[in-house]
This record gives sequence, C-alpha cells and structure tokens, in this order.
Amino acid sequence: MHIGVPAETRANETRVAATPETVKKYVAQGHRVTIQKGAGAAASFTDEAFADAGAELVDAAAAFNADLVLKVQSPTVEELPLMKRGAVLVGMLDPFNAENAAQLAAAGVTAFSLEAAPRTTRAQSLDVLSSQANIAGYKAVLVAAERYPRFLPMLMTAAGTVKAARVLVLGAGVAGLQAIATAKRLGAVIEASDVRPAVKEQIESLGAKFVDVPYETQEEREAAEGVGGYARPMPPSWLARQSALVHERAKQADIIISTALIPGRPAPTLINVETVQAMKPGSVIVDLAAGRGPEFEGRRGGNCPLTEADQVVVRHGVTIVGFTNLASMVAADASSLYARNLLDFLKLIVTKEGALNIDLADDIVAATLLARDGEVTRKA
Ligand code: NAI
Repeated sequence: MHIGVPAETRANETRVAATPETVKKYVAQGHRVTIQKGAGAAASFTDEAFADAGAELVDAAAAFNADLVLKVQSPTVEELPLMKRGAVLVGMLDPFNAENAAQLAAAGVTAFSLEAAPRTTRAQSLDVLSSQANIAGYKAVLVAAERYPRFLPMLMTAAGTVKAARVLVLGAGVAGLQAIATAKRLGAVIEASDVRPAVKEQIESLGAKFVDVPYETQEEREAAEGVGGYARPMPPSWLARQSALVHERAKQADIIISTALIPGRPAPTLINVETVQAMKPGSVIVDLAAGRGPEFEGRRGGNCPLTEADQVVVRHGVTIVGFTNLASMVAADASSLYARNLLDFLKLIVTKEGALNIDLADDIVAATLLARDGEVTRKA
C-alpha cells in the first residue's frame, strides 16, 4: 500500500505523523512510504533520516496522493482536494467538529479520527489522547515554572529560606496526573481535584493531597461516576460547592494547572473571575482547556473565562497561559509517541498482506470511523 505523510500546516503544529522508526516498520511490512520534504523538521526529524529509513521525499501533492494518508491534524479545505476519493485518512480529526467531518465526507475520503477510540485496555497502545495529554501535562508545569517569579522547591540558603510553591491541579485525568508527577519532581506542594471518585487514590499515590468535594445526593454520585471513563457534566449544586472550595484553595495557590474536560461539551468553568481576583499577585494559571470553555466576552475561554486561546495574558496580577497545543512544544517525543499510536492503529485496518480491511465489528474501528463513501458515519 502507498502511505503518504504530508507536512502539517496548521498554526503552532510542529508534530509529524511518522518518524524514521515507524517509516522503517511500514517499509519492512512492504508498504511504499512517501513523506513531504521538511515534514519532520520542526520535530527534529531530518529528510535524510526519513530517506535512510526507506521513505521517498516528495512534495505536498504527492504526499496527499496516497492510498492511506497519515496526518496529525485534519487537512485544511485547500489540502483536501489533493486526496484521492476513496483514500483513507487517519489522524486527530476533531470528531466533535461537525463542519470538519462534513468536509471530509464531501471529499470522499474514508476518515478515521483516533481521538474517538474507546478508553479500553486493547485501545491503549493507539490512545492518542493519552499519549499527547501526558506530554501536555508535563509541559504545562514547565511553562508555569518559567512564568512564575519564584522557585518551586523549598530552599534553605544562607540568605534565608524560600517556601515551596503550592500547585493546585484541577482535573486529574491523564494530563493532570502527569502535571502532579512533574510538579512533585520540582519540589512543589500539590493539591488536586476531580469529579471522578476513582482518582483520589491516584492523586494520593503521586504525593498530592486530594481536594474533596463530597457528594450530597444520589444524582451527584451517579454523575460523578461518568461514562466510559470520562466525566459527565455535574449537577449545579455540586459545581457550586466545588467552586467555593476551589476559590479557597486558589487563594493559597501559586500555580494552577487546570485540565478539566468533558468530551463533546464545553469545558466546565472552575476558576471564575472572582477567584482570579482573589489570587496572589505573580501566580500563574496554565489552562489546558483554553478555547474549549463557554463563551465569555465574545471568545471561548477555558476552565477560566479569562483565558485566551494561544495567548499569555496578565489579569488582576495573575499570568494566565492559554496555549492550546502544549504537546507540540515537545515536538520530537510527541511525534514519536503519536507515530507509534498510528502504527498500532493501522494493524487494525491493514492486513499482513497489505490490503485494506475495514471491519466494523471491531469496536475501535467502528468508533473511530468518522466519514466514508461521502457520508459522516459518526454522530457528533
Ligand atoms: P479528559 O481529558 O476528558 O478530562 C480531564 C479530567 O477532567 C478528567 O479526569 C475529568 O474527570 C476531569 N473533570 C471533568 N469535569 C471536571 C470538574 N467539574 N471538576 C474537576 N475535574 C473535572 O480525561 P482524560 O485525561 O482523557 O481521561 C479520562 C479517563 O479515561 C480517565 O479515567 C483515565 O484514567 C481514563 N483512561 C483510560 C484508559 C484506558 O483504560 N485505556 C486510557 C486513558 C485514560
């Protein structure tokens, strides 16, 4: 099969969908791999390394003109016509974006969106949300440390003692747990909160304190259990109590890393404007939900309404970082892990003989199929 790997062209995207390591494996499996010249440059993979691995270096049109196209993000409307009708596209295609799905369907491509894979043990090796959120959680802490005008660890020096920074992590999924682990290594004192009761143990095992918002009704308890491992929107009663507690903890915090998301819905508001006003000057919020929260003053914030997507702003003396693609800031490892996710996914849709085999009885294949034969196949 002919596998094409175009360069990514969307803003702030530095990753690439194949690495010399995965190209070598595709070639060993008998595939022909074409990769756009310079596609790996921003992730420190040279054309030479791809050529050595067995890829042909081509232009964008030739990379898109393959039977199977591997991408990080969805092709743009200008790029889509470069694909052959009936060709297969695999990437992080933003499955809840109905307009994009309709464009993919109109282009006649068979599109698989890996963010939609179920969170099951079998799907773990191709779980792009986990591989990339893990990196984002790590980088979020480093970005915060860089913007924070103090030390993170406690220091005892001849000139006096410096207190350890207090880090509050809101949302302890994959990104939040990695943020806790990273902040811990830097010597911070950490508290963390989540709706799902299962995470209490995980938070504590990483050496952080669990900020508990007890459930008062059966409705709250059931909502907190979530669905498929994901959170569901919590009842307003619980959110109000959580908000009051976050307000109190935020006043003590030096850094907040917020990661709370609900698939297919706006991210919950956890740090309201009054909370930012009450925070210490110089403190830092890194909001991983940037651009995905409810609309506020004409734009979408994150877990904090004051967050601005892809911007760093200072509001009420607090630095609020809204980078939406933190994984791209660790481009080489993010690409390596993502490329391996793709390699594992292809085992489900390409036979050992190199033929395409889309088996909808496979729950991962069925869940990730976004468009086929001109139709959007997945309900947003
Ligand atoms: P996510 O990125 O969708 O959300 C991040 C976190 O925000 C979640 O932990 C969620 O519970 C939390 N959250 C949502 N609303 C909140 C609120 N109002 N207040 C505080 N926290 C809130 O989640 P992610 O990181 O993708 O993980 C989702 C689940 O899937 C986790 O349980 C994770 O352990 C599980 N998982 C399972 C895998 C497997 O079995 N293969 C692989 C990866 C993750």
